[in-house]
Parts: sequence; structure tokens; C-alpha cells
Amino acid sequence: RRPRRLEAVGVTVKSLDDLDVAGRTVIVRSDFNVPLGDGPDGTRIITDDGRIKASLPTLGDLRRAGAKVVVVAHLGRPKGEPNPSLSLAPVAARLSELLDAPVALGADITGPQARALVGSMSAGDVVLLENIRFDARETSKDPQERAALAAELASLADLYVSDGFGVVHREQASVTDIARLLPSAAGRLVHKEASVFARLLADPARPYVVILGGSKVSDKLGVIGNLIGRVDRLLIGGGMA
Ligand code: 3PG
Repeated sequence: RRPRRLEAVGVTVKSLDDLDVAGRTVIVRSDFNVPLGDGPDGTRIITDDGRIKASLPTLGDLRRAGAKVVVVAHLGRPKGEPNPSLSLAPVAARLSELLDAPVALGADITGPQARALVGSMSAGDVVLLENIRFDARETSKDPQERAALAAELASLADLYVSDGFGVVHREQASVTDIARLLPSAAGRLVHKEASVFARLLADPARPYVVILGGSKVSDKLGVIGNLIGRVDRLLIGGGMA
């Protein structure tokens, strides 16, 4: 069955279609937290690019509409300091292949190099900023620290698009705080996933069987608690089992 429209279950989420992006600089928060392995020459290689591919509808639509697209993402948990093994360089290279367009990687996040890169963009260009978690303020528990980073990010752009579906549940500077500072909307991926959830919560097809896996067990206890009264069967696998 097709996902129900969010509006049909009483949820209103602004989408890309509500933003006028032509000629404007748009920060897109994507989730590029991809698995990495060691390549033959000691470089890091992406072993599953599914999350990068999932970002393409949003990035493509923004480029076609004439936006300058500045992508913000994290990789791993670098604990607030630069860590070359968690650089987004392999992601920039793969994204460039998938978009068939150059994707420049900012050497810093909101510093002079990122500012110069963003300042030199033309409509349709894509820039990826370096791993946002290299800045400790991204994941800080102190709202003022997060707000300071969010303000620096916001000063780079006119609009904000939330499309990092795997990270939207985190209270972090580039996820929640920045959305308070710029006109914002959900990207195509977040909108699609939220539409699927709307159906699964309000009007699921039966029998309703959930298969739940992964490794971050503590995050999933809340999910299990929420689902247990709604589903007919709950199958647990992966690291959780
Ligand atoms: C993920 O891979 O689950 C998301 O990118 C969020 O990452 P995090 O659990 O390190 O916040």
C-alpha cells in the first residue's frame, strides 16, 4: 500500500515544495553515517552507500530548483575533535559519483575555509562540510553551546532542510537548534519515512509484523515499548537478539 499522506493523520510537515529555493543557499542535514572498512592501500572505503543514495531525491530536487546546497553530516562518534579516520572525504567522493557533479569538502565546518567555499558557490552546486561532530558543540548537552554552533551554521545559509532521517531523533545543533533559526522544511527522505510511520501508527495492514534489528539496543527499548501494544508479532534479530 502507498504511504498515507501525513496530513490525512493530522500531521502537518513542511516539505521542499513549501520553500522558494532558487538562487538561495540551503543547508541540508543528511545522515551519511555509513559503515567504513579498510581499503587495500590503507584508505577508508564505504561498505554500504545506501544512506548516500537515500539523500539523492532531496539533493537532486534542490539542485534542479537552482539552490546552492550545503550538506551537513556526521560520521561516527569522534567525541568533539577532528579525527582523520572519520573524515567525510570518502562520502564526498561517493556523493560526487552519484550526483555526477563535483562535491567540494570543507576542510573546516564553519571556519574561513568553509565560508570561502560557500561564498564561491553557484546555483546547483553542492558543498559538503566536514564531519559536524568534529565540533564538540554539535552534541553538547548545554543548549547555549549548541545554539552558538547552530548560529554559525545558520549564518552560512538562507534556508534549512532536515533530511537526515537516521539522526532526526537527536537533540543536536545541526538537527534541532538550527531549525529554530532558519525557515525550514523536511526533505524528501524525512517526509517519506514520516508518511510510512503515519500509516504504521494509525492504520497498519494486518497481520502487522515488525522485524527489529541493529546494535544500539538502548535506543530501541522505547521503540519496542511503543510498538508492543500495536503489533501482531515482533521479531528481534541482529545485535539486539
Ligand atoms: C545512526 O547511525 O544511527 C545515526 O546516524 C545516528 O548516529 P548516533 O547514534 O551516533 O547519534
